[in-house]
Amino acid sequence: MTLTIELLDSKKHNRSCFSCGNESLDNYIRKQASQDLKKKIATVFVLIDSPNTDVIAYYTLSSYTIDIANLDETFAKGIPRYPLLPATLLGRLAVDNTFQGQGMGKVILIDALKRALDAITQVASLAVVVEAIDEDAVRFYQKYGFRQFKQYPLKLYLSMNSIASIIP
Ligand SMILES: CC(C)(COP(=O)(O)OP(=O)(O)OC[C@H]1O[C@@H](n2cnc3c(N)ncnc32)[C@H](O)[C@@H]1OP(=O)(O)O)[C@@H](O)C(=O)NCCC(=O)NCCS
Repeated sequence: MTLTIELLDSKKHNRSCFSCGNESLDNYIRKQASQDLKKKIATVFVLIDSPNTDVIAYYTLSSYTIDIANLDETFAKGIPRYPLLPATLLGRLAVDNTFQGQGMGKVILIDALKRALDAITQVASLAVVVEAIDEDAVRFYQKYGFRQFKQYPLKLYLSMNSIASIIP
């Protein structure tokens, strides 16, 4: 058995039993994710324990823009005053209940950050933005250095420079 992270394949990956404790994140991977992938709204990556095809965890990545007014001064300093800045959205991230607390969240978060970092050689992005579903999720992201947007405490960001310094 080998932990593998791969692009969602609706014909291969079994999402029907995925349950992370949050109904909207469960419904998303079961019913919406493959449509979003097909329509190029989000790329969806899943963690499986190959050759088993049950989804253990997943995350999504999309292009995004940040309003410079919402960044804290230290980060905004030195950045040209364009009203909108390019970013990468880690829109959803979840681990199945059975596997929570075993390091899987960290594994998929690092994988997502690495992919976002790799992509900037082709399309520029200043930071990865995450939308936390609740305050518990905010604490999870803060552990890895994410900072809250000034007016949106459930939205956090981590600069690409910081990501480059933590990716092994
Ligand atoms: C939040 C979530 C992704 C964490 O996944 P996980 O596999 O349980 O986390 P891990 O076992 O990889 O933990 C990695 C580290 O984060 C810490 N951590 C995990 N959840 C945490 C939380 N809610 N708050 C603070 N720290 C947290 C762990 O203690 C661990 O720290 P350590 O490396 O110092 O031991 C998972 O619980 C989940 O899917 N929850 C429901 C959906 C959700 O909240 N998604 C996130 C944002 S939308």
